[in-house]
Amino acid sequence: MPIRAVAYVSTACSEIAEHDAPGIGSGRLDALVEDAARFNRQAGVTGVLLFDGTRFFQYMEGPEDGLHIVYGRVLGASSHRDVIELQRGIVGRRMLPFWPMRWLPTDRAQVGVLAKADWTGFKQRGDAAAIKATGMDLVTSVVEPHLLAG
Ligand SMILES: Cc1cc2nc3c(=O)[nH]c(=O)nc-3n(C[C@H](O)[C@H](O)[C@H](O)COP(=O)(O)O)c2cc1C
Repeated sequence: MPIRAVAYVSTACSEIAEHDAPGIGSGRLDALVEDAARFNRQAGVTGVLLFDGTRFFQYMEGPEDGLHIVYGRVLGASSHRDVIELQRGIVGRRMLPFWPMRWLPTDRAQVGVLAKADWTGFKQRGDAAAIKATGMDLVTSVVEPHLLAG
């Protein structure tokens, strides 16, 4: 069965949004992601959620049926608003198979940069520092240090 993926950005609700350092007062986000990961494991979905203190970026991938249900839950959640889909489609292989879901803090500008990146075909060029870095290159560069850290 082909693997499908979706990437979007959104704005956190005020209970989650914090205006300085992501990570402080994130108890509600921890609980949300714990619930999300539990559901995703059943649905065969993996990915990552990035949070810059105000906005979310999420990438998730999995079989069509599972991803459809998960994305429906995301779209129906009241913990965020202004969901903007960046890309949706088939990917040749899983690109972020590491976690059913995990949230990572990023610096303030990061979600804005991701929102403006090239998401065509979820392609990867392999160099996040290059001027032509794709959205997938940028996400991979955020995730990689956390893989090494375990
Ligand atoms: C930013 C964000 C990401 C989410 N990611 C997932 C997910 O990956 N899988 C999932 O099943 N639900 C996901 N959800 C839904 C939550 O797990 C949860 O069901 C929902 O937020 C609870 O409803 P509420 O936000 O209206 O309180 C997400 C919700 C938000 C706001």
